Amino acid sequence: MEMSGGPVEDGWRMSDTELFSRYGDVFVPRRREQVSAVCDLLADIPVPHVLDLCCGEGLLAEEYLGRSDGHRVTVLDGSAEMLELATKRLRRFGDRVSVVRADISNRDWRRESGYGGVMTSLAVHHLDGPGKRELYRDIRRMLVPGGVFVMADLIEPASAVTRKLAGDHWRQAVAAESAARFGGDEALDAFERSEWNYYRLTEPDPYDKPSSIAEHVDWLREAGFADVDVAWLFAGHAVFTGTKKTA
Ligand SMILES: C[S@@+](CC[C@H](N)C(=O)[O-])C[C@H]1O[C@@H](n2cnc3c(N)ncnc32)[C@H](O)[C@@H]1O
Repeated sequence: MEMSGGPVEDGWRMSDTELFSRYGDVFVPRRREQVSAVCDLLADIPVPHVLDLCCGEGLLAEEYLGRSDGHRVTVLDGSAEMLELATKRLRRFGDRVSVVRADISNRDWRRESGYGGVMTSLAVHHLDGPGKRELYRDIRRMLVPGGVFVMADLIEPASAVTRKLAGDHWRQAVAAESAARFGGDEALDAFERSEWNYYRLTEPDPYDKPSSIAEHVDWLREAGFADVDVAWLFAGHAVFTGTKKTA
């Protein structure tokens, strides 16, 4: 499926793609832990076919596919460059992987159904509130009964105090991981220079529109999800989950 809107690079810039490919393991706090948590939450889904929404390089998909030979994943992203990286990373899984190029805000791709799970990481915050509510309703429709939605994403803090803590924790995590992976501040410098730390921005960012934990929980319940929960939270990054109980 091709994107019908403009190129994703309008908002998610080429330089973001390059930065994220090089430093993603540092910029995303406790990334391995998040990836594991997302896949752990999908362990008991009724159909082992998961949609990875805005898959990037396919890290979530790689983890899910590696857990069982029966697992299948459809990866979706708006960036041809990211899909190429994902395809390369997932080549060894052969026909257990399908690829869709689409814009997350477009509704054409949401006509598909029969998924046991939908997972997504660091992308839904690009949609505004009404866009997220519509997405949650559509995702629920795409799932089989018993299917599970899991979302890892940035959240909007409820107060200045929790915003500061999220920003501080994020920077500390990046500093430690930069030292561990690059032997110094290379990745930390890139994080600071690119103003990646949403919680320390001085100007509003029109492209990033995180919502609060309370809003996400309300909207997931409103969309009909049951067992809505926050399964993991650190440095402003949260993992949400909800189950489709009935058809
Ligand atoms: C921060 S990366 C996260 C990638 C991956 N989920 C991960 O956690 O490693 C955001 C991804 O969303 C994709 N993206 C951004 N805006 C998009 C849009 N409007 N439609 C589809 N994909 C989009 C980007 O191409 C990129 O792959």
